[in-house]
Amino acid sequence: MAKEPIDTSSISFTALYTGHCWAANGLSAEPFRTRLGAFYYHSLSPFEAVGKKLFGGNIRTFLLQRHHLIDHLVRNAIEQEGVTQVLEIACGLTPRGYRFTREYPQLDYLEADLPDMAERKEKLLAELPDRSDRLRVMPINAFAEEGELSVEHVAGTLDPEKPVLVITEGLVNYFDLETISGFWKHMRSVLQRFPKAIYLTDNYPLYHDHPFYRTMTVLRRMLGSVSRSRVTFHFGSDDEATEYMQGLGYDAVRVHNPRDYYDRLPIPHSRGNPFVRIIEARVV
Ligand SMILES: C[S@@+](CC[C@H](N)C(=O)[O-])C[C@H]1O[C@@H](n2cnc3c(N)ncnc32)[C@H](O)[C@@H]1O
Repeated sequence: MAKEPIDTSSISFTALYTGHCWAANGLSAEPFRTRLGAFYYHSLSPFEAVGKKLFGGNIRTFLLQRHHLIDHLVRNAIEQEGVTQVLEIACGLTPRGYRFTREYPQLDYLEADLPDMAERKEKLLAELPDRSDRLRVMPINAFAEEGELSVEHVAGTLDPEKPVLVITEGLVNYFDLETISGFWKHMRSVLQRFPKAIYLTDNYPLYHDHPFYRTMTVLRRMLGSVSRSRVTFHFGSDDEATEYMQGLGYDAVRVHNPRDYYDRLPIPHSRGNPFVRIIEARVV
């Protein structure tokens, strides 16, 4: 019998908040809005306004930066590198699979999340008359080492002869580095079986000299306590992130700073150095 993976379902409610954020900012479709998501989103509005004024950026700033930047990198992989299959782990209520399968007729998109969230997503997608049959949803647990919920099993339903792109957005910083590294290592061994694999994830480094170091530390504790998880900033710099992922065996690693895309993408600007990064780690 498969070993029980850790239960991280206390994090799932955060997908309602981010799902509403994408919908409220024109990146989604009506069914992705939930009443609870709207409630969380609007409850935080006063704090968001204060954050924007005091710090020149807030949660919505980095959520939109990460979402647009991941979209951009996925688009590049499809258009310039011929990627035709995407696996999005911890998909929550993201509209990305829905948007991209409508835009790219050659694309197969597999969304995966914990069983309850996967079921919820499947029901939601069933309400969309223009949902593509190339968009599938499967249950997964990023920490399952074997069995039906494992990355190995889910990725096993993809075409092993073709390149693959894997995304995690809004997942990795809910775990300490040791825990999430278990997932990163396991995933790397699975990705090795494809002719080429690109992994994209958002990550929140915390520079020790960052002007909002203390504020971010408070935010981390608050989010950790409401989601009952070990929210952690993993790296002190982009170089540290690159070296770490290479140390886990990823072949080519790049860290993308939203600031370098201000002239190309419709993303909000941060005052100073943005707080979020997108790590692109390849297995070739
Ligand atoms: C902050 S939400 C992000 C959702 C979506 N990616 C987005 O950006 O809107 C975190 C997601 O991680 C999922 N999650 C939590 N633990 C997980 C695990 N062990 N394996 C896979 N997904 C998990 C939750 O169910 C939730 O959908």
